[in-house]
Amino acid sequence: MEKHASQVEYEKKIGKTLITEEQIQQAIKKAGEKISKLYDGRPILLIGILKGSFVFMADLCRAINAPCEVAFMCVKSYFSGTESSGKVNIVMDLDVDVSKYHVVITEDIIDTGRTLKHLYSMIKERNPLSLTVVTLLDKKERRVVEFTPDISLFEIPDYFVIGYGLDCDEKYRNLSYIAEYNQNI
Ligand code: IMP
Ligand code: MG
Repeated sequence: MEKHASQVEYEKKIGKTLITEEQIQQAIKKAGEKISKLYDGRPILLIGILKGSFVFMADLCRAINAPCEVAFMCVKSYFSGTESSGKVNIVMDLDVDVSKYHVVITEDIIDTGRTLKHLYSMIKERNPLSLTVVTLLDKKERRVVEFTPDISLFEIPDYFVIGYGLDCDEKYRNLSYIAEYNQNI
């Protein structure tokens, strides 16, 4: 049977694989061990920044061998396609009091740094026992505001990427690896 035109279109946009599923899983295993050691049984709250971090967080929490709770915040910083709006909108706030926890913000990617800079100071003001930032990807050269994560699994060049939670116009989050997005095809 012939493929539906929209399936063909969808597949055409998936570019070169930048990070394989195996590489991601290996790095997550290491990060999980690091986080487990760092807190040594103290109460951890993983805060996932939706939507992009949902896949990463699901794997990271299972790589942590310590009492760990999860919570989510939903922010929107990209309005359409591959262009950043520069603004950070809190679409859904946390439903927990962070002051009882060692908080680990879990992000999919740091690009300009605006989202995390904003979220970091917002959560810091709520007095967590400690505050750490872990990101799956870091596009360092794109930084507009200064922000350095505590743990970064992969540094990537200035490509727009999709997969493993990351989207373009809400699609491709379900790929199990990170690929370049073919913008001009
Ligand atoms: P920042 O505020 O510019 O650091 O943007 C961070 C957010 O932009 C991330 O949480 C992603 O949702 C989105 N983003 C940045 N770069 C990419 C990319 O290459 N692919 C998909 N989303 C991206
Ligand atoms: Mg995100």
